[in-house]
Amino acid sequence: MKILVTGGAGFIGSNFVHYACRERPDWHVTVFDALTYAGNTKNLEGLDESRYTFIKGDICSESDIEQAVADCDAVVHFAAESHVDNSLHGPWAFVNTNIVGTYRLLEAVRKHNKRLHHISTDEVYGDLEPSDPKFSETTPYNPSSPYSATKAGSDHLVRAWVRSFDVQATLSNCSNNYGPYQHVEKFIPRQITEILGGRRPKLYGEGKNIRDWIHAEDHSSAILTILEKGKIGDTYMVGANGEKTNKEVLELVLELMGKAPEEYDSVPDRPGHDLRYAIDATKLHNELGWQPKYTDFRGGLQQTIDWYRNNEGWWQPQKAETEAKYKELGR
Ligand code: NAD
Ligand code: DAU
Repeated sequence: MKILVTGGAGFIGSNFVHYACRERPDWHVTVFDALTYAGNTKNLEGLDESRYTFIKGDICSESDIEQAVADCDAVVHFAAESHVDNSLHGPWAFVNTNIVGTYRLLEAVRKHNKRLHHISTDEVYGDLEPSDPKFSETTPYNPSSPYSATKAGSDHLVRAWVRSFDVQATLSNCSNNYGPYQHVEKFIPRQITEILGGRRPKLYGEGKNIRDWIHAEDHSSAILTILEKGKIGDTYMVGANGEKTNKEVLELVLELMGKAPEEYDSVPDRPGHDLRYAIDATKLHNELGWQPKYTDFRGGLQQTIDWYRNNEGWWQPQKAETEAKYKELGR
């Protein structure tokens, strides 16, 4: 099996590449990644070099992506612009990569008749009130930000290519991931690295927003399960019952790092900030037998904190530029 992983040098993509190489010793993985600010070949260090090939390429380039697709058996599509705050201040890159790039990939997959698994997000469903039922495969789309609107657009393209052209694709919509190799612009690594740098972490608004946390390795095992056992054309929700307010998560980070619960700053809220995401993964459990392993959030978070503590050389080069961007936004 030759598998092409778009965005495989990013956070979840690289976690998936490590997982797939470990779990499927007879597979060869080709990582296809444009190495934007979010991509890093260091994320692939430690892998046996005979097990994978790296191609620097842009999914928006018809020739780059077509050639890579022609040479594989199946594609797992992670490549995207992924950060909501960035999408509020520069939406074009999101429209281009998430919509145009997915279109280019779909055309290549159609031409060469390859299996595709498309990675999407729970944000396409908009947000929930605290008492609402969780998102499921039948929740109507209602995206809020340029990021989630472009991910919604990419999901619609994939479904249209399945129905109109018989493309052999599955989709999954996952909740918030945490774990190693996550860019320091994102909530959990930002707070950990602020504390490691001797500064106070930053909470948007009152911290009442709820996210449903899943470890990136559990997301990887779900993707492998769907790739191998999923029904063509179907969508699967991926989540691990990890709902927490941002304030709860931040207070736990502070506690695990030996700080007092009030040692943080409240900063202006994100415009249009989604209140709550929550995933009902019953279909994935019942139909494909998937179960998460990281059911202890405290333990997974401690492991993640330790990873950032032990890998300062990995995150330090991203830190100053990221905080300069946040300073401009007043957050
Ligand atoms: P990330 O920003 O860490 O990584 C994205 C990767 O895609 C980077 O390596 C980047 O270089 C690459 N890339 C960007 N534009 C590209 C292009 N035009 N051509 C080729 N490569 C390109 O993102 P992530 O957090 O790992 O998210 C990966 C996928 O998972 C995305 O599709 C995202 O929507 C989805 N997702 C993320 C989360 C989360 O919590 N982070 C949750 C659910 C779904
Ligand atoms: O739900 C899945 C989505 O999760 C993915 O599709 C996205 O790619 C991923 O980035 C993530 O989106 P969020 O916007 O939920 O994640 P982020 O890490 O940016 O923020 C998590 C929460 O923390 C959110 O409510 C905003 C808040 N926050 C974020 C930052 C960076 C803070 O309070 N302070 C911060 O400094």
